[in-house]
Amino acid sequence: MGHNFLSDANTIQLLLLLYFSIATLSQHSSNFLTHPPYKFCSNTSLYEANSPFQNNLQTLMSYLASNASVSNQYHAYAGNDPDRVYAQYMCYNYITNEKCSACIDAASQDIMQLCPNNRNATVWEELCQLRFSNKNFIGQLDFSGNIPLANRETIENSVQFISVVNENFSNLTKKAAFEPTQSMYATGKLALSDIDTLYTLMQCTTDLSSHDCNTCLQVAIQNISNCCYVGRGARLLSRSCYFRYELYAFYEGAAEYSGTQKVYNFPRGKTLTILKIVLGTCIPTVVLAFLTASCIIYFRRISRKETDEEKSHLAFLQELRKSSGSTLAEGNKVKNIVFG
Ligand SMILES: *[C@@H]1O[C@H](CO)[C@@H](O)[C@H](O)[C@H]1NC(C)=O
Ligand SMILES: *[C@@H]1O[C@H](CO)[C@@H](O)[C@H](O)[C@H]1NC(C)=O
Ligand SMILES: *[C@@H]1O[C@H](CO)[C@@H](O)[C@H](O)[C@H]1NC(C)=O
Ligand SMILES: *[C@@H]1O[C@H](CO)[C@@H](O)[C@H](O)[C@H]1NC(C)=O
Ligand SMILES: *[C@@H]1O[C@H](CO)[C@@H](O)[C@H](O)[C@H]1NC(C)=O
Ligand SMILES: *[C@@H]1O[C@H](CO)[C@@H](O)[C@H](O)[C@H]1NC(C)=O
Repeated sequence: MGHNFLSDANTIQLLLLLYFSIATLSQHSSNFLTHPPYKFCSNTSLYEANSPFQNNLQTLMSYLASNASVSNQYHAYAGNDPDRVYAQYMCYNYITNEKCSACIDAASQDIMQLCPNNRNATVWEELCQLRFSNKNFIGQLDFSGNIPLANRETIENSVQFISVVNENFSNLTKKAAFEPTQSMYATGKLALSDIDTLYTLMQCTTDLSSHDCNTCLQVAIQNISNCCYVGRGARLLSRSCYFRYELYAFYEGAAEYSGTQKVYNFPRGKTLTILKIVLGTCIPTVVLAFLTASCIIYFRRISRKETDEEKSHLAFLQELRKSSGSTLAEGNKVKNIVFG
């Protein structure tokens, strides 16, 4: 009884670890799309207000916003070291120059507001993305800080979905990256059933090599498959590329999928969804309850042990008093036990 596993401190540590791994896992599948803009602020080195860096940054942002009315991608720098700022934007190829200009205009304001005083930041809007840094990143693949996002509406059988679409996604990656006429952009349709069609878009920043574009998109597919194939649609926000799929022709200007007319439902899908819900919500709850109970039992046991010790000390002192008649020793001893 004394060495029951509940009272073992190692077991509690292990349970804590288990709980946090499960919590992290279930958090993974809650990478849900909210509202753009999304941001990445490095927060590592900050610039001072009214510094040359801020001046260069503001100049560059308005320069890029005006350039967006002529080209869908651009990069530039402003100023001299150590206050030089490098910046780049990419509008997704299916939008007009007008929309690109408006999007970069909004992005250049959002990036300053969302990442105040940052020397290195990125924002992703619905139709474009914009980044800047004090370091030259042009031509460099960067998939650190990728953000995978899934639509809140989910499909029924994501495992079967993966096996159907993965090869098609991979083929589209090759098309975007290696076919010169595509200029690092490709869209593709895939009929999933009589009524459902999957629309996919892939795009890289054109300063990348074909090889790096391919890598960026393959990593994007991998990142999405790790969390987001549960979604009816998903997108991967990266500094170097963009990947998105939906069950409606978003890149042809179609209205958002309503979720009522079409139902995409692979057979045997329910069990998996239910299993996921069970694993995602019940287990962490049960483990947490178990953990709390363990802690209570553990600490109760410690205090009970102390009372037991106290009792035996008292018994011993009573024995002592019987034999010696000393009360002073008893007072000291008891004090020691209670406060010591
Ligand atoms: C940087 O700071 C912003 C708030 O200014 C915060 O929302 C964001 O999570 C931080 N980013 C990192 C990478 O810590
Ligand atoms: C920006 O910051 C992130 C996170 O600190 C880092 O991974 C990245 O390399 C930085 N990029 C540039 C171009 O400075
Ligand atoms: C926009 O970009 C083009 C190159 O695509 C460049 O020649 C031009 O100077 C830029 N114009 C503005 C207004 O920034
Ligand atoms: C991928 O491309 C290969 C070669 O072009 C083709 O044989 C295959 O059918 C394609 N797969 C899918 C799922 O589109
Ligand atoms: C994806 O699959 C569809 C349907 O089989 C096919 O028409 C399309 O060419 C494929 N895409 C690529 C890039 O292989
Ligand atoms: C995306 O995949 C790359 C390569 O496997 C990995 O280093 C990175 O951590 C992943 N990012 C996310 C958000 O899953």
